[in-house]
Amino acid sequence: MLKLGVNIDHVATLRQARYAGRERGEPDPVEAALVCEAAGAHGITAHLREDRRHILDRDVKKLRESIKTRLNLEMAATDEMVAIAIDLKPDIVCIVPERRQELTTEGGLDVVGQSEPLRGCIARLRDAGIEISVFITPDPAQIEESARVGAQFIELHTGAFAEAFHRKKERQLEMQRLIEAAELAHRLGLLVNAGHGLNTQNLSALFQVPHMVELNIGHSLISRSILVGLPTAVREMLALMQHYPS
Ligand code: PXP
Repeated sequence: MLKLGVNIDHVATLRQARYAGRERGEPDPVEAALVCEAAGAHGITAHLREDRRHILDRDVKKLRESIKTRLNLEMAATDEMVAIAIDLKPDIVCIVPERRQELTTEGGLDVVGQSEPLRGCIARLRDAGIEISVFITPDPAQIEESARVGAQFIELHTGAFAEAFHRKKERQLEMQRLIEAAELAHRLGLLVNAGHGLNTQNLSALFQVPHMVELNIGHSLISRSILVGLPTAVREMLALMQHYPS
């Protein structure tokens, strides 16, 4: 069964828009996470950024204490974040690139270009019992290097597919890249997650991609929740995901 990880960063973004620098504020991403779990989500994803622009240290601590499903901590491969992760012990860390100016994680991680520091960082996290995923574009060289540096999962960046969704030719090209990437990852023994830009419109097209374990979805779920409520938004997505051939 294809699993749903809900990315709650956008809940924190909304809170920070009003309550940055204060002790308390609404909406509470931890409360949102619990609502998502109660609605059937299989995991919760949060990105603790270097600049703490949305998710805060206390959010990840409270998430670790309160959620019953899997905690996926997205983070940059820095010494500060590795130390936090080892202390926090999320179930899985997804290593993402982080550039301060981007609104969200726009590109994939350059595993090929940073393989040595990544190998060290992954070894430290794995020694602490944390599973490792790397967020990469569907590029064969990046996938092969991800296996070499010791990641167990890749998360395929579906942003280009989502962007191209309404342009048929481009979409087919992106689909082909994702399909081949998932096949290659599977052959190399890597588990395949996917995420970025996924929504109820483009999801079924993505189901041509084989071997997917989990989708990480944030923006469209949180946006939809404004109109129909978070439990309904999560349940709608889960209902669609049941059609993934397993
Ligand atoms: N996966 C990763 C690694 C991300 O950084 C994000 C958020 O940028 C997502 C999935 C979720 O993307 P979205 O909010 O577009 O659903």
